[in-house]
Amino acid sequence: MNPIPTASADGHAPASAGVVPALSISDLRKTYDNGVQALKGASLEVAEGDFFALLGPNGAGKSTLIGIVSSLVNLTGGRVEVFGIDITRDRDAAMRQIGLVPQEINFNTFEKPVDILVNYAGFYGVSRAEAIRRAGEELRRAHLWEKAEVSSRTLSGGMKRRLMIARAMMTRPRLLILDEPTAGVDIEIRRDMWRTLRRINESGTTIILTTHYLEEAEYLCRNLAIINHGEIVSSGPMKSLLARLDVEGFVLDVDGELPATLPVVEGATLAAADRHTLELDMPRTMNLNRVFAALDAAGIRVRSMRTRSNRLEELFVRIVAPAGEGA
Ligand SMILES: Nc1ncnc2c1ncn2[C@@H]1O[C@H](COP(=O)(O)OP(=O)(O)O)[C@@H](O)[C@H]1O
Ligand SMILES: [Mg+2]
Repeated sequence: MNPIPTASADGHAPASAGVVPALSISDLRKTYDNGVQALKGASLEVAEGDFFALLGPNGAGKSTLIGIVSSLVNLTGGRVEVFGIDITRDRDAAMRQIGLVPQEINFNTFEKPVDILVNYAGFYGVSRAEAIRRAGEELRRAHLWEKAEVSSRTLSGGMKRRLMIARAMMTRPRLLILDEPTAGVDIEIRRDMWRTLRRINESGTTIILTTHYLEEAEYLCRNLAIINHGEIVSSGPMKSLLARLDVEGFVLDVDGELPATLPVVEGATLAAADRHTLELDMPRTMNLNRVFAALDAAGIRVRSMRTRSNRLEELFVRIVAPAGEGA
């Protein structure tokens, strides 16, 4: 496994030595009652101020991990500390550090946004006057101020999700955790949420989100861990992980039939998928013209071309699949 990230890639909010991390997980294990081993000894550390992604496919164990950190799921083994507070020994104190945004919209849509926020804070012991003050702040930050008094039912999908974030911020958490905040939402809503989350992170709140969109992790996060089958297979700064995506795969559809012998292009790999389709693997830095010149010289005419897979799949092929563990 890779070393645990200790510094940001781009100089934002570095994890200074000696400072208590926002989240520290070691050897976390979870076996559900039905025998499913959802976590098989996961370890990771998130520095205060970081914007951290837990990236992995469906069923990888993301929600289980988030559930344990936010005390919704009991752990089977291992240790979790939130700002140095052990969640098993001092659950309530640990919980007070955390704001959780679940994947599904789970507020009463017959309530007004302002009431949803004020009542939530009241539930966590915030005085009414203070809760009203904070609700104003959070509604403004979420660009929902004009919607404070409408029925939440009338909010758009994006607004509802921003309201969920605003609600989680009402207790002034030092650590905001979001479980697949943008799964299944359209790109406009996603972008809108990204902007909101960035503003929150810029104001000092540590953010951890789970996602299966590489693009989301790439856009938002400085550090990430990749989880697969209950194991952290790689972790570190986003930038160094993306640097490993240095090989690109293409599929080329050709006119007519491919010759029996394919041209050789140094540095690239050409293979026939079938008689009309070529697969090309080449370093990202390599010039495509060289490939096309060689194909042209061999009398092969390319009709269309597409990248073979999405980048998250590439990342998994290159990092997760080969040895079953991170390089
Ligand atoms: N309450 C549960 N009972 C039994 N198995 C569960 C439960 N919740 C999740 N699992 C299983 O644990 C594994 C990890 O699930 P989950 O943490 O939800 O992954 P992710 O959020 O990455 O999709 C999956 O195999 C899932 O089916
Ligand atoms: Mg999940």
